[in-house]
Amino acid sequence: MYSCIRFLLFLLPPETAHWVVLRGLNLLHRCRLLGRGVPSCNPQTVMGLDFANPVGLAAGLDKNGEYIDALGCLGFGFIEVGAVTPKAQAGNPKPRIFRLKRHHALINAMGFPNKGLAYMIERLRRRRYQGVLGVNLGKNASTPLSEAVNDYKACMIGLYPYVDFLTVNISSPNTPGLRELQGGEYLDHLLETLKHEQTELHRLHNKYVPLLVKVAPDLDDGDIHGMAACFKRHNIDGVIATNTSFSRQGVEEHKDSERFGGLSGRPIAERANHVIAKLYEALGNDIPLIGVGGIDSVASAKDKFAAGASLIQVYTGLIYQGPGLVRELVKNTPDSSLVKRSGDTRSG
Ligand SMILES: Cc1cc2nc3c(=O)[nH]c(=O)nc-3n(C[C@H](O)[C@H](O)[C@H](O)COP(=O)(O)O)c2cc1C
Repeated sequence: MYSCIRFLLFLLPPETAHWVVLRGLNLLHRCRLLGRGVPSCNPQTVMGLDFANPVGLAAGLDKNGEYIDALGCLGFGFIEVGAVTPKAQAGNPKPRIFRLKRHHALINAMGFPNKGLAYMIERLRRRRYQGVLGVNLGKNASTPLSEAVNDYKACMIGLYPYVDFLTVNISSPNTPGLRELQGGEYLDHLLETLKHEQTELHRLHNKYVPLLVKVAPDLDDGDIHGMAACFKRHNIDGVIATNTSFSRQGVEEHKDSERFGGLSGRPIAERANHVIAKLYEALGNDIPLIGVGGIDSVASAKDKFAAGASLIQVYTGLIYQGPGLVRELVKNTPDSSLVKRSGDTRSG
């Protein structure tokens, strides 16, 4: 059934198809045709939050939090919306999403198009979805890197009362310079400031909202260990690995492989697994990991848990496999607390 729908959708430009699907889902939801809520399967508590199941929607599909209730009906245990920036911005010029069909992949150069913080807050206030909800935070393209921390802080302050977790996205390849925030002094200063703000907001709202960091797949092992040490130093609550990739490994011969942007989907699965495994090696069970990148089957989801993830997210797999993927993953993913990690040295 989905293969017929996909055939038709793939006749449209990717961003148009994206819009048609989300509007269609919203319509079905309003007509009460989407049915069931969040299925409970392997429920678990991670970062102090109760997840009915470990399968989440990755950031970037619902940029403005406009489809939360409809997407929630697909069965996700958690949803991450955004990226949001303080001010609305148009993002990069179109076309900015390309399908690499035979690789089950996408290249996107969106550049955080979104309607801004105030609009996102309004959408979050109206949502009915009962699962765990997070927002992915970015910086405006016009904000210099040296002032990026103020953008993240403004979003944190505005969103804090309405969310279950917040993700500091310093790994999108489509905002010039953003990934420099993953290194050295920038990272230390950023995390120190945001953790301090979290403490203030905790006191003010009498509610603790975990702060996560999302990392790129294009990091060498030294970078990963350096970042992990920084996450420990600042008591970061969780890490999402990974964002899209600059690498074109495995898709070099595709006509669109030279396009600017981040590669997602099947070709980045192995690289994401490597980053997760290295983070797990450094962080153990002290800081939970959310695994994302190329999940499009139960087997690829199991690889993420085996590498060290406690929870998983999907995006590109959803485009290629359809919404049925979510319930298939929910039904078949193992209890992550029972999974033997590749980095575990414990026996049993
Ligand atoms: C069109 C598109 C837009 C995205 N936008 C964001 C974003 O705003 N923030 C973010 O952290 N990740 C964003 N991502 C990255 C995804 O959340 C995810 O980390 C990445 O695509 C790897 O997962 P996948 O292979 O399942 O797609 C985007 C991905 C795509 C394809």
